[in-house]
Amino acid sequence: MDIRVEQGRPEKYPCEVLLLFSFESQEGLEGAIQNVDKAWHCFLSSLVKQGDFTGELFQCRLLHTHDSLPAKRILLTGLGKKEEFDLERWRGAASKAGQFIRDFGIKEFVFPVSELRGFNREELAEAFVTGLMLGVYDFNVFKTVDRNKIKEIKEVILLAETAEETKSIQGGARIGKIVSESVCMARDLVNGPSNQITPTALAEKAQSIAKEHGMEIQVFEVSEAEAMGMGAFAAVAKGSQEPGKFIMLEYNKGKEFDTIVLVGKGITFDSGGISIKPSEKMERMKDDMSGAAAVLSTMQAASKLGIPLHLVGIIPATENLPSGKAYKPGDILKTLSGQTVEVISTDAEGRLILSDALAYALRYEPKAIIDLATLTGACVIALGDYVTGLFGNDESLLKRIEEVSTKTGEKVWRLPLWDEYFEYLKSDCADFRNVGTRAAGAITGAIFLSKFVGKVPWVHLDIAGSASIEKARPYTPSGGTGIGVRLLVQLLRDWK
Ligand code: BES
Ligand code: ZN
Ligand code: ZN
Repeated sequence: MDIRVEQGRPEKYPCEVLLLFSFESQEGLEGAIQNVDKAWHCFLSSLVKQGDFTGELFQCRLLHTHDSLPAKRILLTGLGKKEEFDLERWRGAASKAGQFIRDFGIKEFVFPVSELRGFNREELAEAFVTGLMLGVYDFNVFKTVDRNKIKEIKEVILLAETAEETKSIQGGARIGKIVSESVCMARDLVNGPSNQITPTALAEKAQSIAKEHGMEIQVFEVSEAEAMGMGAFAAVAKGSQEPGKFIMLEYNKGKEFDTIVLVGKGITFDSGGISIKPSEKMERMKDDMSGAAAVLSTMQAASKLGIPLHLVGIIPATENLPSGKAYKPGDILKTLSGQTVEVISTDAEGRLILSDALAYALRYEPKAIIDLATLTGACVIALGDYVTGLFGNDESLLKRIEEVSTKTGEKVWRLPLWDEYFEYLKSDCADFRNVGTRAAGAITGAIFLSKFVGKVPWVHLDIAGSASIEKARPYTPSGGTGIGVRLLVQLLRDWK
């Protein structure tokens, strides 16, 4: 999708569709839309008076101008109640309008960006582009029938009235586009099937990102990781024929920037291993690398935006399969940290591979470690698929995440990491076991991880529910959501 900013007035601009928004209001039309209304013999306000357009949230009305305006059509989209307006609704409205135009078979439209409810043009342009691009995302690469029927918006022109406005709209649109492209990349990786998105494919993706953006990259084979002491990662990887990869990406290597390490769970398929999962919904377990997808995508966006930080992305990538070589319940593993783990369930593999990745992260002496993982079904039970579980050992880092989450609309909810929970993980024969009882499953998963980060400020995001959804939302089609990318990018942009 090509997005351009041009200078011009909406009532004078020739185009296929002119997109306009309006609140639900008794007082009639307000703001920029009034100029178009005046130029168009008050057709828009009479439509409102007749009750044909109420401004209800996401309502769409397509009007043909029959050559009485330079625009061939006008799409009116409702923003709902003025007092309830925020950027989350705005992203939703941009998406709904975009989907309407796309489904109608039109490939281009024009949208005049003006201030709304105290939000400036720059932030509105960013959120508009975000909602639009994420809302019209469609995972169709594997559909071979009727490909000519796939509809797509090719060009969007954002209208500004002055040169100064042009600049701020361009700024916002640029950021929105870079970040949304990265979110879509994460979605593609999550939606991609595990026979294609293998650990090797993730490593190749990381290589190509590194090459394009001048990042350093290192990929350890399982044997190398094992020789370094990563006994937990190696144990999970050895059940599969598909070679595991331990991937490290590094951007802005240098002393002058704060170091932040992002760690993403990269299980490209989780069958449960010897503790095999029930077959119902097992196909969903291709999304068990959503943390890895978020880390790769965030690294890409951060470098495109030139965020002044030293970023390290660590992705332990492997399948979790049963086989004659697979690790087994009862096995005792020695992790990179030196601590030993008694395996109770081979299905609690995420925390095992992450334990080695987190221990490795400490070598960078980072200011913060953030991990993202589809770690526990218990988190889905506790919080559902709207909300990401938030855990951590550092109040100020936790607060930062909560703050950016309100900005991006990716909801997080904090769960406790009290010492008492560690009781569940005590083992008779090793330093700890990899699972507790059924109680507090998301918390015991996080407690397990906490044993590998030392005193470094650390946050764990359990995205088991939020990584992939069955029912579409205003700007998130069903399937992989790309959760965490916008959250992390915003966190890094706001880092001080
Ligand atoms: N990948 C799963 C967690 C998961 C479950 C993600 C559902 C998305 C949806 C993870 O590896 C796992 O299997 N966890 C076990 C842990 C248990 C054995 C302690 C779980 O949640 O059942
Ligand atoms: Zn598992
Ligand atoms: Zn898993």
